[in-house]
Amino acid sequence: MMIICLCQGIREKDVRCAIRQGACTLAKLKSATGAGQGCGSCTQELRYLLHHKNGSACHFHEENPTQGGPLKKTSD
Ligand code: FES
Repeated sequence: MMIICLCQGIREKDVRCAIRQGACTLAKLKSATGAGQGCGSCTQELRYLLHHKNGSACHFHEENPTQGGPLKKTSD
């Protein structure tokens, strides 16, 4: 198991999970996990993970909540 943020004891798994749940910016990721709020030396790692996960995470994130269920088409 890989620790990303030693200061807060945040694991890579936690970071990936937060990204999957929609933390698609560095700021969101930091506040969601608590990582990067100590010495800051894990910021690079966080950025790396974001960069590699961001596309699909954001896509996934935006697809569901905005639609919020089956689309109703009103035809008139
Ligand atoms: S290692 Fe993450 S803030 Fe220090």
